[in-house]
Amino acid sequence: MAKNELAPKAARIMNITRETSDTKTFTLVFTNPADQDAFNYRPGQFVEISVLGVGEAPISITSSPSRKGFLELSIKRVGQLTETIHALSPGSIVGIRGPYGNGFPFEDVNGDNILFVAGGIGLAPLRSLINYVFDNRRDYGDVKILYGSRNSGELVFTGELDRWSGMPETEVLVTVDRGDEYWQGNVGLVTTLIPRIKLTPESYSAFVCGPPVMIPFVIKDLLKLGFREDKIISTLENYMKCGVGKCGHCLLGGKYICMEGPVFKYSQMKDLGFG
Ligand SMILES: Cc1cc2nc3c(=O)[nH]c(=O)nc-3n(C[C@H](O)[C@H](O)[C@H](O)COP(=O)(O)OP(=O)(O)OC[C@H]3O[C@@H](n4cnc5c(N)ncnc54)[C@H](O)[C@@H]3O)c2cc1C
Ligand code: FES
Repeated sequence: MAKNELAPKAARIMNITRETSDTKTFTLVFTNPADQDAFNYRPGQFVEISVLGVGEAPISITSSPSRKGFLELSIKRVGQLTETIHALSPGSIVGIRGPYGNGFPFEDVNGDNILFVAGGIGLAPLRSLINYVFDNRRDYGDVKILYGSRNSGELVFTGELDRWSGMPETEVLVTVDRGDEYWQGNVGLVTTLIPRIKLTPESYSAFVCGPPVMIPFVIKDLLKLGFREDKIISTLENYMKCGVGKCGHCLLGGKYICMEGPVFKYSQMKDLGFG
C-alpha cells in the first residue's frame, strides 16, 4: 500500500519547560526510532503538530538540527489546540507531520557577521538558527542578537539569552515595550536597540522574526543603516493556514508562502508586494 506522506507520526513529550505564563517549550522524541532518525530539518522550518480529536497547527521548530535525537517546539497558548497541548504532561503522545517550508538560507550567509532581531515568540524559530550558528561558530563572524517583548513576563528563553551573551564575539541586547518593578533593563520597542549596536552593514546578514507589525519597522531601519536588500531575511508566517499547499490561503504574488516560504529575503518580499 502507498505510504501517506501526510499521516502524522507519533511523538512522545519528554520534557516541558515553562517559558512564560502562556508559552511552554516541549521536547519531543518520535516513538519509532526510525522516524526520529529520518527527521532531518533546517532552522526556520515548521511542523504540523496534532492532538487526536482536537486538531493541528503549524509550529516552528525551535531546536537546532545540530543537536540530534529530539525536537523542540515553543508553543504559545492562544486557542483550543494550543490550550490542549499546554494541558499535556511528559509521556503524552502527539502527532507530528513535516518538516515543512524552506527554512533559513544559512549556507548563503557563510562567513558573514550575523544580526538577529526578534520580537516575542518570534525568537522561537530564530533560536534554532542561533544555536546552529553557535554550533558551527567558525563558519560565521560576529553575532548580535536584539530581542524585545511586550513586558518582562513575556520574555522567552531568558536562560539562553544569558548564555548567548557570554559567547565570544557575541552581543545580546534585550528590551521590553513597558517596564515594571521587576525589570532593570532597556525599555522601548526592539527598533530602539538598532542605533545602539555598532556594525558595518556591508559585512552583515540580518534575520528578522516577530509579530507582523514589527517586521516592516525593523526592515526599514536596517535599510536606512545600509543593509543590502538580499541580506535581510525574514518570515511571512502570518499568511498561512494549512501549511502544505492545500487551502490556497497563503497565495501571495502567485506564490504559496507555505511551500516557497515562510522564509524570504527582503528583495523577494518586495516582489510579493510586502513593504
Ligand atoms: C509557519 C508557522 C509557524 C508558527 N510557529 C509558531 C510557534 O513556533 N509557536 C507558536 O506558539 N505559534 C506558532 N504559530 C502560530 C500557531 O500556528 C497558532 O497559534 C495556532 O495555530 C493556534 O491554534 P489554536 O487552535 O490553539 O488557536 P485558534 O483557535 O486557531 O486561534 C486562536 C487565536 O490565535 C490566532 N491565530 C491562529 N492561527 C494563527 C497564526 N497562524 N498566526 C497568528 N495568529 C494565529 C487566531 O486568530 C485567534 O485569535 C505558527 C504559525 C505558522 C503559520
Ligand atoms: S497555507 Fe494552505 S496552501 Fe499555503
